[in-house]
Amino acid sequence: MNRLARIGTLAMLLVATSLAQALDLSPAEQAGKRLYREGLSSSDAQVSARVGAADMLVPASVVPCASCHGADGLGRAEGGVRPPNLSWQRLALGQGQRQANGRSYPAYSDASLARAIQQGRDPAGNPLDPAMPRFVLSMADQRNLTAYLKRLADDRDPGVQDQVLRLGTLLPTQGPLAASARVVAAVLDDRIEALNQQGGIHGRQLQLITLDPGPDQASAEQALTRLLEQEQVFALIAPLAPALEPTLAARLEQARVPLIGATPALTTSLQIFDPLPGLREQLLSLADYAQANLVLQRADTRIVYADASQEELARRLEQELQHRGWNGIQARPLDEQASNAQAIFFLGQADDFKRLTELLQRAERTPYLLAASSQVAGQLPQLPDAWSRRVFLAYPFVPGDWTPAGRQALDGLRQRQGLDGRQGALQVSTWCAMQLLGDALKRIGRDASREKLVLALESLHDVQTGLTPPLGFGPGRRQGLAGAHVITVEMPGPVFRPVAAYRPVTEVNTP
Ligand code: HEC
Repeated sequence: MNRLARIGTLAMLLVATSLAQALDLSPAEQAGKRLYREGLSSSDAQVSARVGAADMLVPASVVPCASCHGADGLGRAEGGVRPPNLSWQRLALGQGQRQANGRSYPAYSDASLARAIQQGRDPAGNPLDPAMPRFVLSMADQRNLTAYLKRLADDRDPGVQDQVLRLGTLLPTQGPLAASARVVAAVLDDRIEALNQQGGIHGRQLQLITLDPGPDQASAEQALTRLLEQEQVFALIAPLAPALEPTLAARLEQARVPLIGATPALTTSLQIFDPLPGLREQLLSLADYAQANLVLQRADTRIVYADASQEELARRLEQELQHRGWNGIQARPLDEQASNAQAIFFLGQADDFKRLTELLQRAERTPYLLAASSQVAGQLPQLPDAWSRRVFLAYPFVPGDWTPAGRQALDGLRQRQGLDGRQGALQVSTWCAMQLLGDALKRIGRDASREKLVLALESLHDVQTGLTPPLGFGPGRRQGLAGAHVITVEMPGPVFRPVAAYRPVTEVNTP
């Protein structure tokens, strides 16, 4: 078999397995699902709905059922009138009177359900609140919708089984990230085992599926596809697959899969929750510090980036700093670096940082250098003494953040998993990712859905990890920490001297 044919067969196998594992819906139920989620009919006919007390007619695609009742049908508490849970068990099968929003009514039948959806009356004849649209449906569309509503409660998101909740990650077994991957795996295994020993979450054991993203983007894409389609994981946790950067956000959004963990600098998506601050927040913390404490002609500052992949972030920072009064700040590639700058924000890796300091030394200059610790820490011991107190680094957390309990928990983890203090930052960030995921899963209850997980993550505030400043997200906020500690480096040594404690960076609106 040639290579293409083999890939074709593999793709077919993948599709076949994923269909076998997903809920089998009949064509009518599928059509009903489309109507429920997207407001679209299976025929060419446009479905419409009357909304509000004034009965305004709009396409149903503007107000699909899922937009209020949730793709999972569990209802959402928004505003005063709550869209009820639409599980067929609750609507039709269970015994006795139902209650919702002060109405009391007997079980629904197919006919009274159609009346509720089309005319806005419940089985007792009570009018539904006008927040519930009245839909104009053909008989076929109504039949399909009813058929789907009867299956809705079983149409769970992938990875949610009776006894097990499946999580996925991508960790390379070879190459430069393999050692980091082993650390991440050790922390995840340890935390998951601890949760499972306490009985899991809402009666489900957590199961982690780990795949190797392989050497390049194509292999990483394939591994991600396998996790989502064949392995049917519910959410992703702490993957190490930088090759996915160009497509990750779009893939997650399309599949609506939440990811908890650090991702490369530029990948932002509402599906991605990063426990720690991004490079942007770290550099802005440094800028806040410099603005308040270093005597700078801010016209003579640069943002230096080591390779083209960082240009976009560098340009964004350039704009943001200009709005904060850093007139004349300029983003430049490392190699075009004009050495007369007084302060340089650095974006790159440890080797690039070394190259930058060497370039500057040759020009006999030691400007302030400001960088995220994760990007340069490896190079610091080699810095000449002339750089003493000229280098300022952002740290998401410092040992001063560690409570006795946090330290003890981390020590216990290291002992059980044979880890030492190396890759401490990665240990802590993975620990935090797992804690945030666990907390959010506990909040959403037994009816787990990806949508609910995203909402629950958004609702986490002031999460105490014992190892970091308190973490939290919010609607639209996807970084667990909105700033960093600032540390300066004294030579000889290096001696790391805290100069500003963590606080969220001041957000300045950029037009
Ligand atoms: C704009 C928001 C919104 C949309 C869109 C919407 N609903 Fe509702 N729905 C509500 C609200 C709010 C209620 C509660 C009304 C009340 O209790 O008086 C409700 C009530 C209901 C009820 C009554 C449940 C009960 O327990 O009595 C059913 C059934 C229902 N919706 C089905 C649907 C279906 C099916 C669709 C899509 C075709 C849909 N809804 C679209 C907001 C919405």
